[in-house]
Amino acid sequence: MALTGAGISAESGVPTFRGGGGSAVWKGMPFEVISSSEMAASNLAEVWDWFDYRRGVLKSCSPNPAHYALARIEKESGDFLLVTQNVDGLHKRAGSENVIEIHGNINRARCIACNRKIEIPFDVIPHDPSFCDVCGSDLRPDIVLFGETLDEGAFEMASKAAEHCDLFLVVGTSALVYPAASLPQIARRHGAYIVEINPEKTPLTEIADKTIRRPAGEALPLLLGL
Ligand code: OAD
Ligand code: ZN
Repeated sequence: MALTGAGISAESGVPTFRGGGGSAVWKGMPFEVISSSEMAASNLAEVWDWFDYRRGVLKSCSPNPAHYALARIEKESGDFLLVTQNVDGLHKRAGSENVIEIHGNINRARCIACNRKIEIPFDVIPHDPSFCDVCGSDLRPDIVLFGETLDEGAFEMASKAAEHCDLFLVVGTSALVYPAASLPQIARRHGAYIVEINPEKTPLTEIADKTIRRPAGEALPLLLGL
């Protein structure tokens, strides 16, 4: 199985949140503040502004060789789960099918009252519609914000897979956000071989059996002998 983070989409032109000694800021606010449940409760319009801005960046981005390599691993192994923290949808666009998007998807909205989910076209910016057509309440991004818990079923499926996998690829994540970062640790405890692909050191580096300090778009195709 694999766990991916923002770094796998960096070569597609999607900015990461952390890394390179920096951290993302939007209108003077650290991204942890603008992406928080508190902000969604107090100023949902501002949260949408931030996500619509990111949807705008994504409009011109395409999957890169790292996304395609993981899709190929799934096809060739037949028993491969991809867990991504990314909300950009690039893994599915590259052909991966067995994907758990544990932090949600940026092209989906959810009604704050009745929980109805609505796909929002990625090239419609700002998002539309703004209100739930069933109950009329506000829509919010269908994304897990800071201060919120993950979808329990999705995380449980991912952690069960981590208990049973032989090989765990950790690609392009700073491994600072939990519980996602616990998945490789669970796999390690159950005997999996851990490979980290990241140009920078992370807290998971010390439990990795092998570390590849290269951009994912180079490392993953090389790993497949491409
Ligand atoms: P981060 O932005 O925290 O970390 C990106 C990681 O990618 C860093 O460790 C970089 O060194 C690495 N990196 C940069 N370029 C790379 C490349 N070309 N190839 C491989 N690695 C590269 O992103 P995440 O770990 O995904 O939450 O962040 C976790 C969560 O924090 C995100 O899912 C997001 C954010 O809040 C939500 O959206 C809910
Ligand atoms: Zn509703």
